[in-house]
Formats: sequence, C-alpha cells, structure tokens
Amino acid sequence: MNGWMASACWLLWLVVAAGLTRYPGLTSAAGATDINDQNLNCDPSGKLPCPPLSTAPIVDFKTERSVKRIRQPVHRLSRSSQEKYKLAVARMKALPASHPLSFTAQAAIHQAYCDGHYRYDPTTTKQDGGGGGVGRPFDVHSSCIFAPWHRIYIYFYERALAELVGDDTFALPYWSWDAPEGMVIPPLFRDAAGNNSLYDEYRNQANLDKLVDLDYLSKRRPAPIDFDGPKDETYMEAVNSNLCTVYDQQIRNGKGARNFLGGLPNSTDKNTSSGTLEQMAHTAMHVWTGRPARSTADNSTCAVEHDGSYNCRNDMAFLGSAGRDPLFYSHHANVDRLWHIWATTLCGGNGFSDPAWLDASFVFYDGVRSPRRVRIKFRDVLDTTNLGYTYAAVAEKPPFLSCNLTSLVPGGGGGGGGSASKVAPAFPLTLKGGEVVEVPGVALPAAPGQDRVLVIDRVEYDPAEENKFDVAINVPKESAAKVAPQYKEYAGCFSVVPSSVESGGEMEAKVTLAIDQVLADVLGAASNATTVDVVIVPRTPHAIKLYLPPTIQNTDDLD
Ligand code: C2O
Repeated sequence: MNGWMASACWLLWLVVAAGLTRYPGLTSAAGATDINDQNLNCDPSGKLPCPPLSTAPIVDFKTERSVKRIRQPVHRLSRSSQEKYKLAVARMKALPASHPLSFTAQAAIHQAYCDGHYRYDPTTTKQDGGGGGVGRPFDVHSSCIFAPWHRIYIYFYERALAELVGDDTFALPYWSWDAPEGMVIPPLFRDAAGNNSLYDEYRNQANLDKLVDLDYLSKRRPAPIDFDGPKDETYMEAVNSNLCTVYDQQIRNGKGARNFLGGLPNSTDKNTSSGTLEQMAHTAMHVWTGRPARSTADNSTCAVEHDGSYNCRNDMAFLGSAGRDPLFYSHHANVDRLWHIWATTLCGGNGFSDPAWLDASFVFYDGVRSPRRVRIKFRDVLDTTNLGYTYAAVAEKPPFLSCNLTSLVPGGGGGGGGSASKVAPAFPLTLKGGEVVEVPGVALPAAPGQDRVLVIDRVEYDPAEENKFDVAINVPKESAAKVAPQYKEYAGCFSVVPSSVESGGEMEAKVTLAIDQVLADVLGAASNATTVDVVIVPRTPHAIKLYLPPTIQNTDDLD
C-alpha cells in the first residue's frame, strides 16, 4: 500500500460562480452554484488518491501588491537558484501527505481535477452520468478551462515553494522546450545524486538526453537525436520542426481565443474542444517525458483507474499521475508563459470577454504554515502581474518566430487539386494507424473578411490510449505521411494526453482549426478556389471514429 491510499479523503471545493449562462455544463441544476464535496467520488477506502481537506473559511483572492517573482528558464538558472529549487521541492516532499500543500497533495489535486472527482451537476452522482449528461465528470482539460486553471494551480504551488525556502522572490523556473537550448529534459531534473528532489525515475529512459520532439506522437523521427550531438542537417531540421510546432500553435493555428485556448465545456453532448496551447507541444511533452505503457507484475508505481485497474504509463505520460513528476510544474510554467506571450506580445488576445468564463472560479489552498482556502476567478489571473510574477526575457524575440515554413507540395496544390476524379469516403469512418483519409472537394465558404475554421465534429476516441491525427490541405495522398508543422499545408491536429476512462469509455471531441493562413499560403494565386481537398493522417495505432466529414466554416466567434 502506498502513501496515496493512506491519506485521508478530504474535500476540496470547486466553486463555479453563479450565472454561467453560456456554460450550461458549468451551471448546476436547481439553482445550486457550488460543485462541492458531495460530488467527489473520492473514497478514502478506495484506491484513488484524494486531495486533503481543510475546514478553514474561504476567502477571496486579493491582487498581489507588486511583481516580486521573475520566472527564469531552467537552462539559465544560476547554481544557487538551482539549489534553492531543489531545496524548496525537497521541503514540500517532506510535508506529511495530509498537508494540503504537500507534494503528495498537490499531485492528488491535479488527479482529482482530471479524473472525474467533480461533477458538472452537484446533485448527480457518477451513476447518473455515464458518457454524457449532467452527471458527467468535470475535467479541467480539453477546453478553455485548461489555461487559467493550470495558471492558478502552479501559482499556489510556487507560493508554497517560496514560503518553504523563506524567499518571497522565489519564482517557479520554466522548462523552455520552445528554445533550442532548452529542447532536452533539463539536466537539473535528471541527476539522481544526493536524493535530488527534482528527479523522477518514472520517465522515458530512451528520451532523457535526446532532442525533444514537440510533435512526438507522430513518431516521425527514424532515430532518436542526441541533444548534445552534432548540429548536422538532421538535427537542425528537427529543431526547425519544433520551432514551427510552437509557431503554429501560437500564430497560424492559434488565432483567436477559441482556437488557442479551447472551446466551452459542455455537459450535455460531451463534445469537448482543446485549444492549440493544450494539444500541440504541451501534449507532446507529457508523452515524451513519461514512461510508456508497460506490463509488469509490480503495479505499485502505477496510477489507478476508476475501475480499479492500473494504468502503468507514468508519470507525465498519464494525466492521473502527471503531477507526481516535479518536472510537471516547470513544464506547465512554460505552457503558462506561452499563453502569456500570446496574450501580451503577438496575436494580442485577452481571452474571452464572456463573463461566464471571466467569473468562473476555483478554490485552492494557500499558505504552508496555516493553509487558507482562497477563491480565485479567471478574471483575476489574466494579467500575471496581479499574481505577482512575470517571465524573464519576454521582450526578447521568441525563438519560434525563426521557424522556416516551406511547401510540402511544390507550387501548391491549387484549388481543389483535381478533386473531380477523387471519390469521397463515407462517414462515419474509423481512422486506423497508417491509413490516410482523403476528403476531396470540401467547400470553402464565401464571406471574405471572416475567419475560416476547419471543423471536424464528433471525434470519438478512447482517452486511455495515445490519440493523434494530423490534418492538411491540398496534399496528395502519396505525400500525406510527410505532413508536419513545418509545412504550409499543415492545418493542425487532434491530440490528447492519455487519461482515465472515468467518464465511461469513449470520449468525444470537436476539432476546430483556424486555417486562414494555411488557405492563403496553399491557394496563392488560386485564391478564387471554391473547394479544397482535406487529408486526415492518423498518427497513433488505436482506432479513432469520425462521425462526420470535415467542413470549413466562417466564424465571427473567435472572440
Ligand atoms: Cu493538467 Cu499538462 O496537464
């Protein structure tokens, strides 16, 4: 029996403010506004880790008075900052599991919020929910809840570390995998010597000192590339592909809050939609870092599924266990930084103006010595200076702006690429690894000046598996395997970090990809084209079902 099971199951409240008119899924039935402990499926006698309880009263968040914490990239940390980071996490790990700011409790909070301990409707139980409906588990992933929730979560984590080392300027270092110098699991986290608190044995041993692949689930590299190896053509191409992945998520496909941050969660039709911030580099780095699924007689290090079975992908490669790797928090600091860069320097987006999103709130623990419970709203966290931190070097030109995009199909595919002779596949269809699906003659809407999005609605997948497919425009089937973020034809992807099947089996997603820039590049002179050919390239072996064919729509709702 491990420490998780021994910890008491205490409540942690998720509070969603009243009046969420555009979030039917977040508004509870019968006028109640809190999703509370009644809705936790956390059973102290069961196998699932539970977040700890405090009965302290809930106070409202207050803006920090000044910016004291400057988050630095891990690869540029001074010796003394490295030691301080290790010390802070060591002290957090030394707190008893029953302490809400212990490392164990922090990891349990993440699992609770991605693993169905909360329900959309507090009056329901898991049994009412099944795959859809109001009893459906609430998840902070796969929607526009993702970015602000994780920002809040690591903010309180950072404050706890600062308190533990008695330094209110202590800032959470970020794993800058978007910069060529940071494209490796930082050595600071890899050194097991001296009981390093940042070390985690449950990582993919084959990837430890390799150049990261920010599009990892596509498994396109013929061989792993040593991070410290020769900077030859293969190396530089891989770096460029990484830069372009971030470029695409931030700019080409990341246009507007809806596409970058994700769609509105919805409890009634279980169709969720991740933003590019979540499903591109973020997802890849989870799976890259974690230990792959394996079968073993020893389950003691595996994460427990809701049916009591074990998921032996750990730690980062499975959402239920991701928070157990100290690297998770530096990884998410970088995700947070990329949101900050998106919001402040490039595309210029504040997020959604909808009060339903702005006023959504959560309750977190704050303070190691005497933990309080603090209610914090999304509107409180849109400007990091309210939270007393910022990022080093945001004024520097982000490396991803150096991405070199090229055409996969020289001369462009033109308007429709000869669709007349191509046969459209029948939907529903099942994507299988390696079998490219070509959908010819997809109509382009004619409303110049509006944003165009490619929509694939009702994508059904098994959340416990690795899932990814790429989408490209006007690429002939023969070239489709080469589709990748560094090509102008690349329209984006669907991809998720493996997670629990708590919601009762298959999940559904709605894929929405901003394609204005792709269309401009691909069509070029043929800009009066009325159709394009869409190719869908499955990247993972497990079946993904598409109920509906892709469509291209105008939207004025990018927010
Ligand atoms: Cu809550 Cu990167 O996951």
